[in-house]
Amino acid sequence: MSKLWGGRFTKETNKLVEEFTASITFDKKLVAEDIEGSIAHAKMLGECGIIPIEDAEAIIGGLQKISEMAANNEIEFLIKDEDIHMNIEKKLIELIGPVGGKLHTGRSRNDQVATDMHLYLRNKTGELIELVGMVQEAIIGKAEQHIETLIPGYTHLQRAQPVSFAHHLMAYFWMFERDKERLTDSLKRVNWMPLGAGALAGTTFPIDRELTAGLLGFETIYPNSMDAVSDRDFILEFLSIGSIMMTHISRLSEELIIWSSQEFSFIELDDSFCTGSSIMPQKKNPDVPELLRGKTGRVYGNLVGLLTVLKGLPLAYNKDLQEDKEGMFDTVETLEGSLKLLAPMIETMKVNGDVMRRALNEDFSNATDIADYLAAKGMPFREAHEVIGKIVLYCIQTNKYLLDLTMDEYRSFSELFYGDIYKILAPEHVAGARNSYGGTSPEQVVNQIAFAKGLLG
Ligand code: ARG
Repeated sequence: MSKLWGGRFTKETNKLVEEFTASITFDKKLVAEDIEGSIAHAKMLGECGIIPIEDAEAIIGGLQKISEMAANNEIEFLIKDEDIHMNIEKKLIELIGPVGGKLHTGRSRNDQVATDMHLYLRNKTGELIELVGMVQEAIIGKAEQHIETLIPGYTHLQRAQPVSFAHHLMAYFWMFERDKERLTDSLKRVNWMPLGAGALAGTTFPIDRELTAGLLGFETIYPNSMDAVSDRDFILEFLSIGSIMMTHISRLSEELIIWSSQEFSFIELDDSFCTGSSIMPQKKNPDVPELLRGKTGRVYGNLVGLLTVLKGLPLAYNKDLQEDKEGMFDTVETLEGSLKLLAPMIETMKVNGDVMRRALNEDFSNATDIADYLAAKGMPFREAHEVIGKIVLYCIQTNKYLLDLTMDEYRSFSELFYGDIYKILAPEHVAGARNSYGGTSPEQVVNQIAFAKGLLG
């Protein structure tokens, strides 16, 4: 058998054209979804009396056989059969004879491929939601061990105020929580069914789209056949969500890289998550977070790639749309791989709480608190800010920290200073005093973690 669309052609396809236009090398990943969609379509054709029931049964039997063969790697997909849809249809006709040719009644590859992609993303979105949950579990596990561990908190990458290490980690929990929410929300749109739109205008056959939607578990049927075969915004949405999630993964990775540098030494990644250098024997490199950060660029590229493919496309189907697949597969696989590594990397990392704590002895991250001290005694905060600024400058010039100053030194700057100032300056007090909702005090962090655990269930 030659091409399924060969009738109007008088020449063989040029080999280079065959290779250039084929998508089978990558869309074979859709084999399960393609068969699932075809089985539902065949059932509907039979039940609606569009093809005889026996024919529908023969087709479904053939498709099930192909599904088993595919699972056992027994199908050879061919470039000359272009894509997954025609490879399977050909195989079907080979297996059950010409009756297999009835499967494509009232259907086009245009609504078929869109349906496959919806089914694929629905499965993968579910899997990804679970994987994000695993990362969140890992974050909570680590956070629970470090509620009282203090780390310098930064703004502008300059020491700002001490925070609980658990609080810092939990910031990522909430980013991932919103990523999960976005994924869940996107399922509403992934659950629209294009099947039944035909090539672009619907079909002359009395099909029952409700029936196929029910069989495939779709919630909504595209009400417009042209939109159904042209829409790829459900993929754009996925790629956007994936890009946002990779941004979060990348920011966390960046912190892990910085924290594990010799200069910081706040954490140490487990040996099993690091690699060495082929020349410098002392090296232990954070390749995993570096790659997570690096792969983020690829994921953004996939989003921008598809946006660009779509921006000038007239309705309805154009072959350009075949370019929707590789980026989507790549993003799915990159996210899967990244999330799977991130969870155990967080679980196994060693936290050097004493190094973090020592760092806090050598900074001015308690300066806000003496400004607050003066403000609480009635000095306008702006004035207090000025006074403390002068004290910090004095400390820098005399090579001291705020806790090193004598009472006389303090009182030379303001009469409002008393001995209770020293207690206020301890980093534990500084962090503990930030007891407003969502703040870094142990009490707030404990509540936050309890809330987060409740969400994970
Ligand atoms: N392989 C094609 C794709 O991925 C399937 C749809 C082909 N439709 C067509 N009219 N050429 O987009």
